[in-house]
Amino acid sequence: MTNGRIIGLISGKGGVGKTSLTVNLGISLRQFGNEVTLIDADFDASNLGVYLGRYEHPVKMQQVLKGENVPEKAIFRHPTGIKVASSSNEINEVSPSTDNLREILLHAAEDSDYVLVDCPPGLNPMVESIMSACDELMIVTMPTQTASTNAAQIIHKAKQLHKPVLGTIVNKVDGNPEIELIDKEVEMMTETHIIGEIPYDQKMKSSLFENQPLVNYDPLAEASIGIKQIAADMDGQSYERPKFAPIKRKLNKFKDIF
Ligand SMILES: Nc1ncnc2c1ncn2[C@@H]1O[C@H](COP(=O)(O)OP(=O)(O)OP(=O)(O)O)[C@@H](O)[C@H]1O
Ligand SMILES: [Mg+2]
Repeated sequence: MTNGRIIGLISGKGGVGKTSLTVNLGISLRQFGNEVTLIDADFDASNLGVYLGRYEHPVKMQQVLKGENVPEKAIFRHPTGIKVASSSNEINEVSPSTDNLREILLHAAEDSDYVLVDCPPGLNPMVESIMSACDELMIVTMPTQTASTNAAQIIHKAKQLHKPVLGTIVNKVDGNPEIELIDKEVEMMTETHIIGEIPYDQKMKSSLFENQPLVNYDPLAEASIGIKQIAADMDGQSYERPKFAPIKRKLNKFKDIF
C-alpha cells in the first residue's frame, strides 16, 4: 500500500462542524472500502472521542507527541471500522509541542488510504503547525459572512504555507438565500471552489445525544446523504442518493411516534 492522503479539516471559525465531518466523512470513506485513520489534533479542546460515542482509549495523542508512547499504541480500531487516535482533555495536557506531529501522521498514513486530521479552530501558531503537518487541507465553513471571512483568512494562511486546498465544504445550509450566503458568494469570498454542501439537520444533534455517528445513526438523514456524496466524490466512487429518502424519513418519524 502506498502512503495515504493526510487531509486536515480546518476552519477559521469554531463550531462550523469540523469534528462532526471528520467522523462522518471518515466512516463514509471506510464504507467505500478504504482504510481510514482519524487523528484528533484539537489538543486544547478535544472532543473527537465524544463524537465517536464517548469512546475512551488509554493512550492519547499528547503522550505520543511528548515521546512517552509510540503512535501504534495511540491508534485504536473503533467499532465502526475506522482507526482513531484521540486526544486528552486533561488541563495539564493542553498545548503540547507538535514537533513530531508530521512523523505521527506519516506513520498513520503508512497503512491508511486516508488520514483525516481534526483541527482546532482559529488561526494561531498551534493551528499553523498542524496545517503544516498535513499534505492537503479541506476548509469547513457555514453560509454566513463571519464564517466565510474567517475561512478566507485561513485559506490565505494555507497559501502562505504552500498547502494545497482541496476545496470548501459548506455545512449547516438552510437553503434560504435571503438569510444566508449562496455558494457563489462563499466561493467569491474564500477564492476556493465548493466541493460539498451539507444541510442544517437536527439529526446531527440527535446522533450526538444518542452517542452514535450520524451516518450510522440515520443513513437516510439529509446531512448523511450530503456527507456520503462528498466522500464518494473524494474517492472517485459513484454514489446514488437513496431512493425516496424524504418519504422513508417521514415513515421513520411515524415509527418513532407509534
Ligand atoms: N449539518 C449540521 N446540522 C446541524 N447541526 C450540526 C451540523 N453539523 C454540525 N452540527 C452541530 O454543530 C455543533 C458543532 O459541531 P462540531 O463540534 O463538529 O464543530 P467544530 O467545527 O468541530 O467545532 P470546534 O471548532 O469547537 O472544534 C455540534 O453540536 C454539531 O452537532
Ligand atoms: Mg471540533
